[in-house]
Amino acid sequence: MSDNKRILSGMRPTGPLHLGHYFGVIANWLKLQEEYDCYFFVADWHALTSEYANPTKIKDFVPGLVKDWVASGLDPEKCVIFQQSMIKEHAELHLMLSMTTPLGWLERCPTYKEQKTELVQKDLNTYGFLGYPVLMSTDILMYKPCAVPVGKDQLPHLELTREIARRFNHLNNTEIFPEPADMLTEESKLLGLDGRKMSKSYGNSIMLSEPIEDIMPKLRGMKTDEARIRKTDPGDPKVCNLYPYHKLMTDPAKLPEIQEGCKNATWGCVDCKKVLMESMEAFLTPFHERRNACTDERVQEILEAGNAKARAFAQKTMAEVREITGFNF
Ligand code: TRP
Repeated sequence: MSDNKRILSGMRPTGPLHLGHYFGVIANWLKLQEEYDCYFFVADWHALTSEYANPTKIKDFVPGLVKDWVASGLDPEKCVIFQQSMIKEHAELHLMLSMTTPLGWLERCPTYKEQKTELVQKDLNTYGFLGYPVLMSTDILMYKPCAVPVGKDQLPHLELTREIARRFNHLNNTEIFPEPADMLTEESKLLGLDGRKMSKSYGNSIMLSEPIEDIMPKLRGMKTDEARIRKTDPGDPKVCNLYPYHKLMTDPAKLPEIQEGCKNATWGCVDCKKVLMESMEAFLTPFHERRNACTDERVQEILEAGNAKARAFAQKTMAEVREITGFNF
């Protein structure tokens, strides 16, 4: 076993984070930063693959994403927080890896096929979009991590990353790129207000940075146990869309009472939502305080420090790549 405890993961800056992001991805990152040598980055070049027609929009989302991370508890003293486009070495390695990646691997990629048919409102017939997994492989291989924490949807990209590494290593008779392992992030148990997956595009989300007073009206319209029509009907927390929120945010000591009230119909969904609202307020208020304290200047500072560390690593990797390929003129 090597002593490599490096982990790398990234997110595209496409808008404010919601509770689903927190309880899925971020909560996991918070644990990882305690145990691993973590690199977390803003994948702003990746956002261009779908937002290429409005590139300037991405700029506004970058500091917001860093603020959401820091307010959630990511600690720049414990992990490296950086911005992809500020490390120009990614562009150079992407070029090198694109030369060795067979077209068929990319055309066969399930995310590529899916998104092209699903996101019909956007023209994704671009060279950049096809190359998305090569850029992602670049982000990863540059830092030679032992593993990459991602959701299920990103596993094909990780598989491709290993294939790209293997092929580059083989063609150049080197072992420069170790193959990173999967580190599957468990999916968030929280669904959106309408019972579908929480997603910005469905309009069923509660944002972490959302003003507290905007939340109760959303909770009022939230789906619960659909078989419970009247307050006098007994409900079932097991099938209720709201109960998982309690499990994550409400004091565990209160959960038996909530379950009983629902099952015995001694309280209604509105009562339940009021308690949840209190829990949310208790959860989000400190988040909002930390987010307000994280000024644009602070974000700048965090990124400058993180970029410098990431850049130093990337420069070292690129010096090796240039040496191996004879591009060390
Ligand atoms: N593709 C990832 C997503 O959409 C974001 C990403 C880009 C990433 N580069 C990465 C994740 C490298 C992990 C490692 O969520």
